[in-house]
Amino acid sequence: MPTALITGASAGLGAEFARQLADRGADLVLVARSQDALDALAAELRARHRVAVEVIVADLAEEPGVARVVARIADAERPIDVLVNNAGFGLPLQFADNDIADEVRHLRVHVEAPMRLMHAALRVMRGRGGRIINVASVAGFISRSTYSACKAWLIGFSRWANDEYARDGVTVTALCPGFVHTTFHARMGLAAGQEGVPGMLWLDAPYVVRAGLRAAARGRSVVIPSLRYKAVVALSRLVPRAVTARVARRGRM
Ligand SMILES: NC(=O)c1ccc[n+]([C@@H]2O[C@H](COP(=O)([O-])OP(=O)(O)OC[C@H]3O[C@@H](n4cnc5c(N)ncnc54)[C@H](OP(=O)(O)O)[C@@H]3O)[C@@H](O)[C@H]2O)c1
Repeated sequence: MPTALITGASAGLGAEFARQLADRGADLVLVARSQDALDALAAELRARHRVAVEVIVADLAEEPGVARVVARIADAERPIDVLVNNAGFGLPLQFADNDIADEVRHLRVHVEAPMRLMHAALRVMRGRGGRIINVASVAGFISRSTYSACKAWLIGFSRWANDEYARDGVTVTALCPGFVHTTFHARMGLAAGQEGVPGMLWLDAPYVVRAGLRAAARGRSVVIPSLRYKAVVALSRLVPRAVTARVARRGRM
């Protein structure tokens, strides 16, 4: 049975990755800070799918948390076949108004942790194969503060790594959704409907995760779920950066 390690598995897209991978028979390693939510999901998936589920409680903005997950991935006796770098959060203010400590935590969770987990994973996956999915965003194609910059890092790195490690049987895929119904916006303090985003632009987590798993199975380096968002990204390449930046000020995805 393949084993999948998913960060940010206590809610939203991460919990949905856990459900869909368990449904396909994968054993799981679930990572996040919320032990109760992870334990509840683990119990549900063990009972429903008869898969093995480990829980690692870890704050990926802190060194001990990242080190714990790296150590698990580096354990060649219990190899990880699928790594999903999904944990993330949004900051509520503009860059200069945010606390710099929050910005540093944001950078660590979105860039440093995925980089270190991929580094550990690739050392074990090279030669035996594996899949890495980096949950980026449509925001990575436009300009909006450090969130877009972090997601652009994930997209750029995935493009290179997918080519580089193909010869080792490893695929690296950046999953780039637009707005998805999860707890992401509520955690930023936005009530439902306050995001200023038209209803037709919202995607459901099961649809986004299915698109990510399908693209990874096909060895694609980047996937943008839905025609709507493919069109948004294509359009964003044609209009001046200042215009997309102005539009992007309205919402977070
Ligand atoms: N929702 C959207 O519209 C949208 C659009 C595009 C991309 N994304 C991306 O999708 C990914 C998943 O977000 P989501 O929408 O599913 O949000 P969510 O429902 O808020 O879930 C975020 C997950 O990340 C975990 N997390 C946050 N900070 C963490 C930390 N310091 N250490 C470890 N885990 C941490 C949370 O768990 P704990 O709190 O238990 O630690 C939770 O499991 C993120 O990378 C986000 O940027 C979201």
